[in-house]
Amino acid sequence: MSADGYAFGERPPGAAADWTIDQDWKSYTQEEHRTWVTLYERQAAVLPGRACDEFLHGLQALDLHGAGIPDFRRMNQTLRSLTGWTVVAVPGLVPDDVFFDHLANRRFPSGQFIRRPDQLDYLQEPDIFHDVFGHVPMLTDPVFADYMQQYGLGGARALQLGRLHNLARLYWYTVEFGLLQTAQGLRIYGAGIVSSKAESVFSLEDPSPNRLGFDLERVMRTPYRIDDFQQVYFVIPSLQHLLDVTQEDFGALYERMATAGDIGIDDITPADEVLTRGTQAYARAKAA
Ligand SMILES: [Fe+2]
Repeated sequence: MSADGYAFGERPPGAAADWTIDQDWKSYTQEEHRTWVTLYERQAAVLPGRACDEFLHGLQALDLHGAGIPDFRRMNQTLRSLTGWTVVAVPGLVPDDVFFDHLANRRFPSGQFIRRPDQLDYLQEPDIFHDVFGHVPMLTDPVFADYMQQYGLGGARALQLGRLHNLARLYWYTVEFGLLQTAQGLRIYGAGIVSSKAESVFSLEDPSPNRLGFDLERVMRTPYRIDDFQQVYFVIPSLQHLLDVTQEDFGALYERMATAGDIGIDDITPADEVLTRGTQAYARAKAA
């Protein structure tokens, strides 16, 4: 079920066959535009020196600030000219096959609504701030843009093979919560981090989480948490590396995982490249 109470497979009234709706930009209220600007300014203060250059360049190229909530028609002109991607509005979460089909065709589905002013710090379902501010700047980078399309193509295959839970972890630990190694140190590229003020600091600076080198199979064997800061972050050496290792067919990998089993969320294995051996103090305090 989506948060709107629609069962997947049952399209909300007014949505097209691919679940898209009109963004209806004119319908946003002044208060909603102010919420965007408030969120934008909080992140703009925290992200320099923390977000990767590709994200910051994308943010600048798309000029997402000035008029509050971006008008997709205008934003898409720039985005399309840079990488051939566009953003389409959807009512909320969409079924997996629909989501993958959009990505495979270089369309990023974004929630149309924005959170209320009393929800600035946490929201369970992705809103337009998370989806657009968090995800779209990286889609201006040609390598990351190809990776996202590749992920969409892989999604259809994972559905066929019944390994969606493994593939979803790849999305989680890269697209949502990925860190990137750079000459200047660790930087954020994951949308779930860059759209959260607190996690932007926590992911890089807190001693609690593990920070481990990215390994495709390792990541796909690692569960994640959706309700709080991550207990482990995976660090890629470059965006090109991420694209390169995900271009093979995952069939053989899925077969191995069927017998290999999962790795505990805070485990460190002998094969891991350990950048930070976390104290896990944050997670333990929350569990107590
Ligand atoms: Fe997201």
